[in-house]
Amino acid sequence: MNAPQLIQKYLDFFKSKGHAIIPSASLIPSNDASVLFNTAGMQPLVPYLMGGKHPQGTRLVNVQKCLRTVDFDSIGDDTHNTFFQMLGNWSLGDYFKKEAIEWSFEFLTSKKWLNLPVKKLAVTVYQGDRNVPRDEESYALWRSVGIPEERIAFQGKDNFWIAGETGPCGPSTEMFYWTGESVAPQKFDPTDARWVEIWNDVFMAYNKKEDGTVLPLKQKNVDTGMGLERTLAVINGQKSAYETDLFQPIIKTIEELSVKKYSSEQRSMRIIADHIRAAVFIIGDENAVLPSNVDRGYILRRLIRRAVRYGKMVGIFGAFLVDLAEIVILSYGNDYSELKINKERIKTELYNEESKFGKTLEKGLHEFERMVPLGKISGINAFLLFQSYGFPLEMTEELASEKNIKVDIKGFLAEYEKHKELSRTGAEKKFKGGLADSSPVVIRLHTATHLLNEALRKVISPTIHQKGSNITPERLRFDFSFERKLTPEEGKKVEDEVNRVVKLDLAVIRKEMPIKEAEKLGAEKEFGQKYPDKVSVYFVGDYSKEFCGGPHVTHTAEIGKFKILKEEAVAAGVRRIKAIVE
Ligand code: ALA
Repeated sequence: MNAPQLIQKYLDFFKSKGHAIIPSASLIPSNDASVLFNTAGMQPLVPYLMGGKHPQGTRLVNVQKCLRTVDFDSIGDDTHNTFFQMLGNWSLGDYFKKEAIEWSFEFLTSKKWLNLPVKKLAVTVYQGDRNVPRDEESYALWRSVGIPEERIAFQGKDNFWIAGETGPCGPSTEMFYWTGESVAPQKFDPTDARWVEIWNDVFMAYNKKEDGTVLPLKQKNVDTGMGLERTLAVINGQKSAYETDLFQPIIKTIEELSVKKYSSEQRSMRIIADHIRAAVFIIGDENAVLPSNVDRGYILRRLIRRAVRYGKMVGIFGAFLVDLAEIVILSYGNDYSELKINKERIKTELYNEESKFGKTLEKGLHEFERMVPLGKISGINAFLLFQSYGFPLEMTEELASEKNIKVDIKGFLAEYEKHKELSRTGAEKKFKGGLADSSPVVIRLHTATHLLNEALRKVISPTIHQKGSNITPERLRFDFSFERKLTPEEGKKVEDEVNRVVKLDLAVIRKEMPIKEAEKLGAEKEFGQKYPDKVSVYFVGDYSKEFCGGPHVTHTAEIGKFKILKEEAVAAGVRRIKAIVE
């Protein structure tokens, strides 16, 4: 069976039971600020589970786009995907346990539908707690349809389902399918990984409040979720969804691009396939999200960057995400027309993010290797990898765990906060451009700023110091202390001086040191700026030294031709230069 066939069967079955087929909602919730992405089919339906009237009635069925990132580390195993499709049927105050269980059983086992053997099925039901009774009714229903006693396990919190912390919730009953090579054991053990969960029926009759109280809802609902990916693999007797038509075209393309075999690079290729699929759906969504350093954009960025890193690991040269995106759009575009409509955006965003990161990845990995002998990645170093090389913290953690060392996460967060503070205070606008954008041109402009700072002192006056700086991909802007306008000759002299140093191709080196030491060396500070006890100092050969967090080019020739566009006054005693690099 392929994915479209399974979807069709599911929709047809529930249509035959009086359900209206509704389309998938956006991956990005529009009425719920508590989650970044829809993690379950029920999320877009919360208002109706709470008692609102749905325009299409009280019985609904659909396939919903979902995304879960809690299991980031397990991606690549047999049963987890970041993006997945959830088949679901709903009763909004209509039918309850009896129909839900009988229909689940019929769909799974009837010859007309999935025709799965009962001897490979097992279920869990809720054992109860102080608010909600033990679910004897579901137990009895399963027994009556033909599930033997030893294949029913009562469980605790695993069988009480809620999306997050508050909202509609209730006891659930989950269906498991035996995937082992041997005959399914008589006695069901839910902890045996060969029993794979394929479907969850939740009896949403409660509402959990912020103070933790669980109260009965106005109406008794049914919310079910069947993961399309998992179920498809299971009914085809395949080890995982990666072996199905949902992933094979993507994996085949990865094999072609890398010249390596899936059989020897299974985990890496699965991660790439999983992440590119998720990224395409996020960018292609009707409420699109683009890569950034916050919230959803950061999750997307992590997915893309992790895919790029694994791409390098399996030996793919050059950019490859757009090629893979084409395959994803081809495979899924018929069912999700938004992917076709937004094809150009998907390709452009992936291409931009991949080129941005592709350029710093290798250097960052090199830098990381140099940190390994220290036995631990300090907060400052993790932040350096983040800021200068674009490594999401989670990627640094992953790299570190591959080397069996730890990352000082608290230290990283402290650094991160500090920089956020710095850029917020307004006294320090220095990295505002650089922080938000570490594209190659911004990095070149940033190093050029250091040279300009020094050149002004050398050529014009040793009393000049930096008052502020701001960099965008279009230009650098540098404010400095000086009493009068520069003459055109002086401007030209400064420009020539910067270009002279560019041509010397001096190495740019970063050192961390106690602030006292940096001060003793006479490193340039920015006026009005607060610095921590331990600082990072950038040295451009022996020409300039400045307190700075980076990022910078490695050699000055990378800067290219430096050109001053404008010199003007900003305030009494403060001048401003705008310049570009070509
Ligand atoms: N909402 C339930 C789940 O996601 C069905 O498992």
